[in-house]
Amino acid sequence: MSLIKPHGSDELNPLFVYDPAENEALLKKAEGLASIVVSSATAANAVMLGGGYFNPLTGYMNKADALSVAKSMKTASGLFWPVPVLNLVKDAAGIKAGATIALKDPNIDGNPILAVMEVKAVEEFTDDEMALMSKEIYRPRPEEAHPGVEAFNAQGKVCLSGPIKVLNFSYFQSEFPDTFRTAVEIRNEIAERGWKKVVAFQTRNPMHLAHEELCHMAMKRLGCDGLVIHMLLGKLKPGDIPAPVRDAAIRKMVELYFPKNSAMVTGYGFDMLYAGPREAVLHAVFRQNMGATHFIVGRDHAGVGDHYGAFDAQTIFDKEVPAGALKIEIFKADHTAYSKKLDRVVMMCEAPDHKKEDFVLLSGTKVREMLGKGIAPPKEFSRPEVAEILIKYYQSLQK
Ligand code: ADX
Repeated sequence: MSLIKPHGSDELNPLFVYDPAENEALLKKAEGLASIVVSSATAANAVMLGGGYFNPLTGYMNKADALSVAKSMKTASGLFWPVPVLNLVKDAAGIKAGATIALKDPNIDGNPILAVMEVKAVEEFTDDEMALMSKEIYRPRPEEAHPGVEAFNAQGKVCLSGPIKVLNFSYFQSEFPDTFRTAVEIRNEIAERGWKKVVAFQTRNPMHLAHEELCHMAMKRLGCDGLVIHMLLGKLKPGDIPAPVRDAAIRKMVELYFPKNSAMVTGYGFDMLYAGPREAVLHAVFRQNMGATHFIVGRDHAGVGDHYGAFDAQTIFDKEVPAGALKIEIFKADHTAYSKKLDRVVMMCEAPDHKKEDFVLLSGTKVREMLGKGIAPPKEFSRPEVAEILIKYYQSLQK
């Protein structure tokens, strides 16, 4: 049996230039081209396009596509797509439609060339159009700061659109050699392992017991051959735990608490949008592209603070994603927590006789406070080996 098809095409079409001679020649040519240092979000888009995660897109969207995607989750030509993929700048710096330009990496010293772009159009969004995109994608609440909206608006309003060829994977490959993977690599590994039913788990946090058990539950209930833990390796808002610490904690958990060869620990190079429901749909698209048949969406997926309703990222799949738009299936999980009565982690909806105090519930703030003081949370909340890694991190912040 072949793997699940990518989104929008029969074969995955990564935009990375794989042939070493071609890559070198293009880089050489790019050194002589006009160039811009792109935003971190644009660079992350290039890394995702390069690795096949954003299949079948061929580059950055123009205004018509971006507005159409924002409003109705489809491009002007009708391709289902949940979040505009843009190259926004403050100033086009004399770049005109028809130019071929080098895109330079803002996240590496010296701004090396990341990709080459054929500029098809240079357009500008109006303030109203920027506001409309923010509203549709991030669903901001009036008078409330939203880190995703701030990052989006900080890029500028000038939209450079057109196809790209990607020359490297930015800092992700060098900083996370064991964890960073392209969609192509994950697909290949799934095929090599002979996994047919594969569930993907998105995360930007270290995994506590509830997350671990959520993955076990999904695998068991779906009858999966394997799990792909797929962590975000890009930029986060201040206060979130850096990727190397999360990576170490997750690897330890998998080593100790998952049957051998049942879980792959992987990551992808993208900045967190904090776009809740829309981001959950984007997450599903790129998990399909990497070959997962199922995708876990739990409580407050891709949320920030209490900005979104706890299950908005699930209802969007029922209410706004047209039937058949995606092949990947969503495993919707209720709030999971340790039940003191049953002595195990459960989904709350499956323990209707429980009161709040029957569960071990700790707020993020409380957990951070404990870890900072060198206190491990109870074993019903965190594996001790995971807590040890997090304690070291939080204590290092105080030095
Ligand atoms: S996210 O921003 O990447 O979604 P996080 O790493 O915290 O954040 O969550 C990863 C996944 O686990 C998401 O699908 C989220 O909904 C789910 N999740 C996290 N905690 C719980 C919980 N206690 N109960 C149910 N689902 C959860």
